[in-house]
Amino acid sequence: MKCKKCANKAVVSLRAYKIALCADCYLEFYSRLVHRSIKKHKIFMENDKILLAVSGGKDSSAMASVLSDIGYGFEMLHIDLGIGRYSEDCRRKVEELAKIVEKDLHVVDLRDYGFKIPEVRGRICSACGTVKRYVMNKFARENGFTVVATGHTAEDLVSFYLKNVAGGQKEYAEKLLPRVEPFDEKVVARAKPLFEMSEKENMLFAIIKNLPFKGDECPYAPKPEWKEIVYEIEHKKPGFVKNFLRGLLVETKKPLETKYCSICGEVSIGEVCAFCKIRKRFSKTS
Ligand code: AMP
Ligand code: FES
Ligand code: ZN
Repeated sequence: MKCKKCANKAVVSLRAYKIALCADCYLEFYSRLVHRSIKKHKIFMENDKILLAVSGGKDSSAMASVLSDIGYGFEMLHIDLGIGRYSEDCRRKVEELAKIVEKDLHVVDLRDYGFKIPEVRGRICSACGTVKRYVMNKFARENGFTVVATGHTAEDLVSFYLKNVAGGQKEYAEKLLPRVEPFDEKVVARAKPLFEMSEKENMLFAIIKNLPFKGDECPYAPKPEWKEIVYEIEHKKPGFVKNFLRGLLVETKKPLETKYCSICGEVSIGEVCAFCKIRKRFSKTS
């Protein structure tokens, strides 16, 4: 198979886009998609001081590397959860990553708060989520960051939505937004610069760039049933995740400010309304 862009030997095949690419063209393709997504959805503001939350997994490693390639300035935060060998390995990976992307890395050790995740009883994963959100927000605020970015992926958002809809819960809209603004002065904005990227795309980027990341899951992670359902649908219907996500965004978006067509004055989404565009193309009188 040949690369669609340069005709060299292709190393990746992306069914959702129906293209095959060589390693170099893939890196360029991926960076361009991430950059376009950040701009289009206003994920970062011009004066943002960005803190990247890095776990040592493929998604946040890809996030740090691609943002650095695009030219964003940032520092990184890793939370050491005290989960034995697993946490030790993750910490080592983010330390290697920091050297590669040449950015400052801060580490908050949960033991400094007097406990570690394995000591939590009950629903460990849910408590761990609370701990991570708390530490990220507090560290960011106390150190003058204006936004915390996480490596959440398209599959994270789609599986989260399906799980919540199936469970009858409705308070999910915020988690699906690519950027969530603070509702209080003690809260720092949250951003998901990879929210349109799939896990496979992040993995390919991390492997081609030879980035350090920990392959295996946390020992306390529950079986990712909803993710498996999402993978299965994607397998049968390539492009499902991205299309579904696009639909979700429309649903969670706040109504746009009203605009008026510059030609006819009717309500319009763009500068010229869809009717005037058609009329301009097809009318014999205008
Ligand atoms: P997860 O909830 O494990 O799927 O992780 C989602 C995102 O949260 C990751 O991509 C990271 O940006 C962030 N994250 C998860 N674990 C940590 C950690 N131990 N330290 C810093 N950031 C983390
Ligand atoms: Fe938090 Fe596994 S990473 S319980
Ligand atoms: Zn190529």
